[in-house]
Amino acid sequence: MDPMTMLSVSILFYFILLVISLCSIRAFLWRRKITTTQSAAGGIKQLPPGSSGWPFIGETIEFYRAGLVGVPEKFFFDRFRKYSSQVFKTSLLGETVIVIGGTASGNKFLFSNEGKLVNAWYPPSVRKLIPISSHLSNEQDYLKAARKAYPKFLSQEAVKSYIGIMDSMTKRHFETHWDKYTSTKEEMVTTTIHPLVKNYSFLMACRLLLSMDVEQETHRLNELQKLFVIVLNGILSIPIDFPGTPFNLAIKASILIKKQITTMIKERKLRLLSHENKSERDLLSLMIMFSEEESGKFMEEKFIADMIMGLIIAGHDSTTSVMTMVMKYLVDFPNVYDQVLREQTEIAKSKGTEELLTWSDIQKMKYSWNVVCEVMRLAPPGPGGFKQALEDFTYAGYFIPKGCKLYWSSIATHKNPDYFPDPEKFDPWRFQGGGPAPFTFVPFSGGPGTCSGKEYVRVQILVFIHHLVKRYKLEKSIPSNPKEEEKLIFKPFPTLTKGLPICIRAH
Ligand code: HEM
Repeated sequence: MDPMTMLSVSILFYFILLVISLCSIRAFLWRRKITTTQSAAGGIKQLPPGSSGWPFIGETIEFYRAGLVGVPEKFFFDRFRKYSSQVFKTSLLGETVIVIGGTASGNKFLFSNEGKLVNAWYPPSVRKLIPISSHLSNEQDYLKAARKAYPKFLSQEAVKSYIGIMDSMTKRHFETHWDKYTSTKEEMVTTTIHPLVKNYSFLMACRLLLSMDVEQETHRLNELQKLFVIVLNGILSIPIDFPGTPFNLAIKASILIKKQITTMIKERKLRLLSHENKSERDLLSLMIMFSEEESGKFMEEKFIADMIMGLIIAGHDSTTSVMTMVMKYLVDFPNVYDQVLREQTEIAKSKGTEELLTWSDIQKMKYSWNVVCEVMRLAPPGPGGFKQALEDFTYAGYFIPKGCKLYWSSIATHKNPDYFPDPEKFDPWRFQGGGPAPFTFVPFSGGPGTCSGKEYVRVQILVFIHHLVKRYKLEKSIPSNPKEEEKLIFKPFPTLTKGLPICIRAH
């Protein structure tokens, strides 16, 4: 190792040590502060029971380990049993965190108090990378402004107008990117599905959010995709901003992405002004033309760029995860595949071959959506989320101090046998009729913080399934080493360890 490299490594080592020490002291002081808070009457207020684990790392390792062995809910269930079925205290990512039990009442409490007792909170890595627009001083202001704008281009009404684009692009995408991997009578081809789906969902996001021509602009798309991979790696890394760390690379990549997106917004604006493609009602044109009712002002280019980047980050991997998992269950349960195929064939038969899918076709895909819901119950792409207490309050008889972080768990709720009997069983019929009770099925969170892309996701996934089953039969492939079985783990997002190697065969 040359002297310069040794010096850099030493500096990095001492820097990490310093950060860990400072964080430990901060976490220790915070813990002391909140465990000794006095009530107005002079008595000590009782925090929920639980353990703070190790200095700085707290119980983060146990939290991640449960996910890595495929049972993220175990972290919660063990502690609900040990401390309280409604609420417990832990320490994650250097923060004291109060976990509100995986119950309908707990979820309802947190979701419906958004903006009153709690608001959204994101870990430091996300906060640094989630873009904050030039004119908005913090992420709460950004969120407020963005929440005003989202309904304009992510509402049901808006999403209806994207179905045609989604439909034609999905059909073309399978022809050009998937057909070449199909098995024939003579030859059995094993294809790893996850990267194919990831590419599909990235291209779809770029087509809809950035109006990109996915067939012509391949170089630009490849560059952008590489940058997004770096940002997503950074979000999941330790947030140390030092040259060469994944987090540092992610910050740089996010700056480059925003620059590129801003250029595309300018280009699109020019096209809109020159009245080319006037009839094209895609997301980007809606964002550009969106003006606030009160002020009549259009959104700043930088703000639009921030939002688009946030939406691609929020939506890309989550949608990929659901579509890949849907394919896994369709392979594992041929009877479910047959039923989905019957439903989709009936819809296809009712239309001309060149006719595009419509909103009313999407409404008919009831069983297919039940399948997607059951997939999201067992493998929710967002296994939970953080909030922050805006003021002191009491929950289940315990004191929650202002500033304290809270966590809700979709996976703990979805695996609760009181709401979903035989919770490990894959059974789409659970969602038939009225479906699960309110606040028991929460893959999209709830209340004012509900996923703004929910309707977009539903349509995109159903269009994907329509073309998938219409075009291909899905078959298990024979593993080269039967001992190396595919497993579903959570890192903390659901991940298939082998990326789903299967055979796809044209009908
Ligand atoms: C299956 C796919 C998806 C799932 C399961 C999902 C789930 C979620 C969840 C649980 C939250 C709340 C996070 C929290 O409170 O910490 C959220 C927020 C959000 N999601 Fe999604 N999401 C998906 C796809 C998308 C897509 C495709 C978009 C955009 C096109 C999107 C846009 C958003 C936005 C903007 C928020 C922030 C909402 C707010 O705080 O006002 N999501 N999503």
